[in-house]
Amino acid sequence: MQVPRPAHIKYSTDELLEVIDVFNVPAPVLDRIRELLETSDPAPNAGNLFRYYNPRSKAAAFEQAYAEKVGCRYALTVNSGTSALIAACIAAGVAPGDEVIVPAYTFFASVSAIVVARGIPVIVDIDESLTIDPEAIRAAITPRTRAIMPVHMIGHSCDMDPIMAIAREHGLAVIEDTAQACGGTYKGKYLGTCGDLGCISLDAYKVIGAGEGGIVTTDDEMLYMRVQSYHDTAACWRPDRFARERRPGELFCGENYRMPELCAAVALAQLRKLDGINAATRAIYHQLRREIQLPAGARWVEPHDPDGVCGYTLGILFASQADAARAAELGIGGLAVKDTKGVRDWHVFWNWEHILEQKTATPEGFPFRSPYVDRLPGYSPDMCPRTKEIMLRLGTIAISSADTPEWASAYAAELNQGFARLFA
Ligand SMILES: Cc1ncc(COP(=O)(O)O)c(C=O)c1O
Repeated sequence: MQVPRPAHIKYSTDELLEVIDVFNVPAPVLDRIRELLETSDPAPNAGNLFRYYNPRSKAAAFEQAYAEKVGCRYALTVNSGTSALIAACIAAGVAPGDEVIVPAYTFFASVSAIVVARGIPVIVDIDESLTIDPEAIRAAITPRTRAIMPVHMIGHSCDMDPIMAIAREHGLAVIEDTAQACGGTYKGKYLGTCGDLGCISLDAYKVIGAGEGGIVTTDDEMLYMRVQSYHDTAACWRPDRFARERRPGELFCGENYRMPELCAAVALAQLRKLDGINAATRAIYHQLRREIQLPAGARWVEPHDPDGVCGYTLGILFASQADAARAAELGIGGLAVKDTKGVRDWHVFWNWEHILEQKTATPEGFPFRSPYVDRLPGYSPDMCPRTKEIMLRLGTIAISSADTPEWASAYAAELNQGFARLFA
């Protein structure tokens, strides 16, 4: 006979209230939540999914819901967008000395992920769409190129058709950095599902957030297994944890990039809001474009697919850098211009000191200095002049899903008056 043991209650109201406190909810909501937690019956266990012995895994539930939403075969949650990119590079077979083509305008994490995966970033120009220029990709291909990493910046899609055509012509993997464009589309396809692997960030500042988190998507079973292996080396789920390797390349040493279940729970709730958030910002984006009268010589940043933009940033390309700087001086809330406040912006290549000077964590300089590398791309603060010229003419307006048509009209009127005054 076994001695009856007291029930082990590891998580209770205390932990849940701490989690809720992260979101800075108003006091009446907190009272209501406390009341619910302390009075309601536990929810039934039906319909939940297993992950790592957890029968109610929110990470597994999120993966299923996300894959269904965007129409991909596999979605894997990870602990950040950066982890997603590193795991995707590894899955795609980026090896020491392999080159990965990446745009000169992206958050530095894209470039860093390539180096962490032991690849050599080859940084190329964007065009006026603010996304990687397909012709610049073509010009940068060498026998060492392994992959292309287009980045869908500020919710605008890259021009995926020509990019995929170039990749297929040269047998290159395409890893879409979709950190900034969750729920955006290109010709009806969700961003992140056009290439071989898609990487999304769910950090607190993205279209939807989980505090921290990321997703890797793919349709290819082997790529999925390799991302799986890398993201959870301790557990080795593939899906059978203790099975021997079924194919070469399935099992190898990796990291622990598992998404915490608490973040996954937030992500699952946020996913239900994704379409609403994008529809709201997209509507204001198009309204502002109709109502703002741009000064002479200025143009809107034209997305490759206007119906598929996330819509949280509206870009204006001024006629000159001086015009952009004058516009920034307008002092109208939200109109931002690059590099005007003396702050080094990590989104533009000329500030990427880590790459320009090949700074590495240890002094031997790997992967830049290694027997696998014959020749490095010419890294310099002048290497992508077109990108610099475009970025210094760019003004951006941030749009929130809480913005109303009335706010947009008033904001457009204020901006129009300011432009008329400044650029008369
Ligand atoms: C283009 C881009 N790539 C990658 C990342 C990295 O995502 P995370 O912060 O989730 O690691 C970001 C985050 O800002 C990003 O903007």
